[in-house]
Amino acid sequence: IAVFILVIESVYVSSATPSQQKSFHGHKVLDILPRTESELKSILNLIEEYELDVWYEPKNLNDSLHVHVEPEKLGQVLSHLKKLGSEVKVWIENVQKLIDGSFTPEDNLQRRVIMQRSLNLNKTYYNYSEIMTYLDYVQENARGVHVSQQVIGQSVKGRDLRVLKVSRSSNSAKKAIIIDGGIHAREWISLASVIWMMDKLVFNPRNDPDVKKLLKKFDFYLIPVLNPDGYEFSRTNDRLWRKNRRINSGSNCVGVDLNRNFDYKWNPNRGGSRNPCSTVYSGTRALSEPESAALASFINSLMGVDNGGRVQAYLNIHSYGQYWLYPWGFTTAYPVDRLDLDNLAQVAVTAIQKVNGKRFTVGSSRNVLYLAAGGSDDYAKGSAGVKYSYTLELRDTGAYGFVLPEKQILPACEETWAGVKAFALALAKS
Ligand code: ARG
Ligand code: ZN
Repeated sequence: IAVFILVIESVYVSSATPSQQKSFHGHKVLDILPRTESELKSILNLIEEYELDVWYEPKNLNDSLHVHVEPEKLGQVLSHLKKLGSEVKVWIENVQKLIDGSFTPEDNLQRRVIMQRSLNLNKTYYNYSEIMTYLDYVQENARGVHVSQQVIGQSVKGRDLRVLKVSRSSNSAKKAIIIDGGIHAREWISLASVIWMMDKLVFNPRNDPDVKKLLKKFDFYLIPVLNPDGYEFSRTNDRLWRKNRRINSGSNCVGVDLNRNFDYKWNPNRGGSRNPCSTVYSGTRALSEPESAALASFINSLMGVDNGGRVQAYLNIHSYGQYWLYPWGFTTAYPVDRLDLDNLAQVAVTAIQKVNGKRFTVGSSRNVLYLAAGGSDDYAKGSAGVKYSYTLELRDTGAYGFVLPEKQILPACEETWAGVKAFALALAKS
């Protein structure tokens, strides 16, 4: 009996975060199908007016929007939609249930042990400090590959923004690939996938000839947590938090959407917002945020004359929707080298599909997703000059959305890694 009680207790302590945790009881995700362009416009206005959180925005009229609505707003929003005559279904009945069902408590029991042994990365979502501990672990235990860490800046709340470099030898200055996760707080699988890549690159070269090949050609710069304040907040207070944790002067609303804050064609009127209460608030100006500014100057430093334009690829990892996207996000026009970017993306998604059968869509952000200026991918290509700049949207296509259950960490990481590996191998030959 004593053992039984102990187990129950540790499950409770490790998986639940009581008191200040926001409840999503009664929150719904609606599926809204607009029939005309003007109806879609009205719906988008409604979203802006009620400061609703869009989970999924379709590219054309045959596809529906997924919009998260708080219970207090539900009645009014529904009556507006009824007036518009839109087809509305409830996509997710109770967001809190979705969240509760996304954890696997048994696996949380061994969190500490797990970190030390570098096992079970695939079983639970780790917090910021656990991830930092893991980076140190990787650095200390790397054999036959060189691992170093660099702090490229601090978050609004002063948390370090760390980059882990994996290369074949110290002082390596090969062509570089930069990969980051967690720019959006609630997209937990993106952080997990970058950690997974680290693990494969550092601990697998002996078993995996592909990794060996890749390290002959590239230095990898991995940033697992680009938005640590937002990530922690999404773990302890609000599972669906997206932005950073900037206190916006003159507003009670917190946070800037880092992926609307980059300095290439920055424009709040193009898929961002000037309203600090919007989930896609673009900030007061481009690169106003320490997190985006740190990444921008890091990419620039590797591209600068001293570094000989070393960065060949940049991958900005998000969830969800299953896309492998290339620029631009700010315009429907394509980059002149679109075909090169498309070709390598096709290689990647073909490799992804082979693992668990998941299909990823390839295209330019604006054309297959939606208009959004100020993204880091557009910045990397447009301002910094990185040719192969992409945004990845990992699992799923909406069943769990941002709240991807821990059970899916392993398959999601495996397929993403297969895609990234195939992409980088093709890049090495290009
Ligand atoms: N879901 C991502 C976002 O909203 C997509 C970004 C695509 N890239 C872009 N430059 N719009 O931030
Ligand atoms: Zn995102």
